[in-house]
Amino acid sequence: MIFAANFKTNHTRASTKTYMEDLKVKLVSKKPEDKVYIFPPSTALDRFDGDFTVGTQNAYATQNGAYTGEIGVEQLEEFGIKAILIGHSERREYMDETQTKVAEKFDFFKEQGFEIIYCIGEPLHIREKGFESVMQYLLAQFEGIDISYDKVIVAYEPIWAIGTGRSATVDEISTTHRALKKAINNKPLLYGGSAKPANIKEIISIAGVDGVLVGSASLSVESFSEMFLA
Ligand code: 13P
Repeated sequence: MIFAANFKTNHTRASTKTYMEDLKVKLVSKKPEDKVYIFPPSTALDRFDGDFTVGTQNAYATQNGAYTGEIGVEQLEEFGIKAILIGHSERREYMDETQTKVAEKFDFFKEQGFEIIYCIGEPLHIREKGFESVMQYLLAQFEGIDISYDKVIVAYEPIWAIGTGRSATVDEISTTHRALKKAINNKPLLYGGSAKPANIKEIISIAGVDGVLVGSASLSVESFSEMFLA
């Protein structure tokens, strides 16, 4: 299983350092086949010691250059970072990342050999239209994306389940993952959206779920480690 923590705009450089130290201790007891990823805010990126991979929540599709406020590959290489989240619904929505932009970013980081956690997810009004509409919406988020890339992990995060405390139901996850798995040639597929200690066992036991991408419940090392130690 894959357990990935997306801190979003939470934690400082100092609190991330403490988190990573505590995490390292917890990870000693994790199942050897499980993989843990942490995506701290970019100001907290660094080299950390422990059985986990540090990735960036975002970067600009450049080595370096004149892109005020952005970081590129040069800034990530300083810390040996080779994993990135692309296509998160919050970036698509608040930062106006269109499918074209997302696909360009994907291509660039693919060329750089990054592990890409590629996020997709539908808003509530699409879910309410029924399953066919959901799949149509989700499949459109693969436009321009080379799903055959060997270092891609897909994360299905229904927008209405993100940060709401209300996860998708077992049935919703199960049907969506089954259809997505076919569409993505069986690539690893994570679920995200209010995953937490109380529902983790149920979620990771669903066929077609290869792990979770966790926001709120990853912010405390106690809660996040409870998930991979469950
Ligand atoms: P929550 O776990 O807070 O719902 O966030 C999920 C998410 O968006 C992870 O990328």
